[in-house]
Amino acid sequence: MSDNATLEYKGEKYDFPVIKGTEDELAIDIKTLRSLTTMTTLDPGYKNTGSCESAITFLDGEKGILRYRGYSIEELAEKADFLEVAYLLIFGELPNKEQLDAFHHDIIEESTVDEEMKKILDAFPKSAHPMGVLSSLTSALIAFNPTTVDVSSEKAMYYAIVRILAKFPILVAWTMRKKKGLPLDYGDDSLGYVENIHKMMFKRPNKEYKKNQIVIDALDKLLILHADHEQNCSTSTVRIVGSSHAGLFASLSAGISALWGPLHGGANQAVLEMLQAIEEDGGDTKKYMAKAKDKNDPFRLMGFGHRVYKNFDPRAKIIKKAADEVLGDLGIEDPILEIAKGLEKEALEDQYFVDRKLYPNVDFYSGIIYRALGIPTEMFTVMFALGRLPGWIAQWREMRLRNEPIGRPRQLYIGENSRPFVTVAKR
Ligand code: SDX
Repeated sequence: MSDNATLEYKGEKYDFPVIKGTEDELAIDIKTLRSLTTMTTLDPGYKNTGSCESAITFLDGEKGILRYRGYSIEELAEKADFLEVAYLLIFGELPNKEQLDAFHHDIIEESTVDEEMKKILDAFPKSAHPMGVLSSLTSALIAFNPTTVDVSSEKAMYYAIVRILAKFPILVAWTMRKKKGLPLDYGDDSLGYVENIHKMMFKRPNKEYKKNQIVIDALDKLLILHADHEQNCSTSTVRIVGSSHAGLFASLSAGISALWGPLHGGANQAVLEMLQAIEEDGGDTKKYMAKAKDKNDPFRLMGFGHRVYKNFDPRAKIIKKAADEVLGDLGIEDPILEIAKGLEKEALEDQYFVDRKLYPNVDFYSGIIYRALGIPTEMFTVMFALGRLPGWIAQWREMRLRNEPIGRPRQLYIGENSRPFVTVAKR
C-alpha cells in the first residue's frame, strides 16, 4: 500500500503519493495538485520544492554529508583524481583504467579551439570580468561545434560532452592569459588532465614549464570538491535551459552566468575581497561581524551560510585543512589565512550565527588556496566553474536521458484585475 499525504481544504480531501528516496528522504508528489484542486504551491527560492529525482549527488545538510554517486567527498578528495570524478558523475560509475584512458584520449582528440574564437576573446577589454568572458565564449563555441546542439543519440551526446570537457579548460586558460597580457597557447597532450590545465594557464612564453606536484594536487582536489552539488542555483539553471533542448553549451553558458553571482559561486571572490578589507582595517573582524548582523546593512559575511548545510559544509573542512598544507608546503605565510580563521572562530561563537546555523561554506577558504597557487582573485569563480563543469554536464545528461519536461513554473498573480484601455488624451 503506497503512502499518501492528504490535503484537506474547504471540506474536500485530496491524496498525494509520498515517495521515498534511496536515503529515506520523503517527498510529496504533487504532479496532480492543480488538476485535482485548481491550486498551485508558492515557494520563493524553491526552499521546500524538489525539481527532479536525481541519482547523482546526495547531501545531508543537517549531518554535513556530501556524496557523488554514493562515494563520500572525503574519500574522493583523498583518493581520486578530477578526471575520474568527472567520469563518475557523468556516467555513474568509477572508470576502470581502460575506460579512463579512452575517455582521456577522446578529450585530447578534441583539445583545440577554432582560431576564430581568439577574435571574440580579443574583442573584450582587459577589464572584462572573466566570468562574463567565459560565459560568452562558451556560448560562442556552439557556432564552431553545431553538431553539439542536437544530441538525440547517446553517441552525439557523448561527443558533445568530451568536446566541452576538452575545450572549456582552454577557454579558462585563455581568459586568464588575456587578462594578464600573455600569449594564448595550448598545453601538452602528454600531460594529465589537470596538469595540462595548469600548464595552459601558467606556462610563461619564455620559460620551460616546471611541474609542481603540490600545486597540481591542490588544484585537482579543489576541482573535485567543486564538481557537483545537486540542485544549486547554477545547476538548476543548466537543467532548466537544457530542458528546452537548447543544447549543452548554451545550458552551460547560462549556468556560468548564474554561478557568477556573489550569493553563489561569486562568493569565493567576495570572501577574499572581504578578508583583504579586514586586513586593511587592521584586522578589525568585530566591525565586519557587526555589519553582517546589522539588518540595515546589506553586507553579509561572505563564505558563511548555506541553503542546505545547517552544519559544517564538509568541503569547507577539507579545504581549510588543505589551505594549511598547501601554504606550508609552498612556504607561504599568508596573514589572510589567519584573519579567516579568526573570523570563523568569532562567528562560530556568535549567537546570531549559531541561532541561524551559519557555518563556513565551500567558498570561505578556497580563495586562500587559489591565491597561493597564483590565481588572480577575479579568476576564483572561473575556477569554481571549471570544477563544476562535470556536475553541470552530469545533471544536464540525466535530465535529457530521463526526458524531463520543459521547466515552466507557475505563479500567483497579484497584479491589476481586468481594466479597459484609456487613451493617452484621457490619462
Ligand atoms: C554556494 O546551493 C549550493 O549548493 C551552493 C553551493 C554549491 O556548491 O553550488 O554550495 C555554492 O553558493 C555557497 C554559498 C556561497 N554564498 C555565500 O557565502 C554568500 C553569503 N551567504 C548568504 O548570502 C546565504 O547564506 C546563502 C545565499 C548562501 C543562503 O541563503 P538562504 O538559504 O536564502 O538563507 P537566508 O538568506 O534566508 O538567511 C537566513 C538568515 C537571514 O537572517 P534573518 O532574516 O533570519 O534574521 O540568515 C542570515 C539572513 O540574513 N544570513 C546571513 C548570512 N547568510 C544568511 N547573515 C549574515 N551573513 C551571512 N552570510
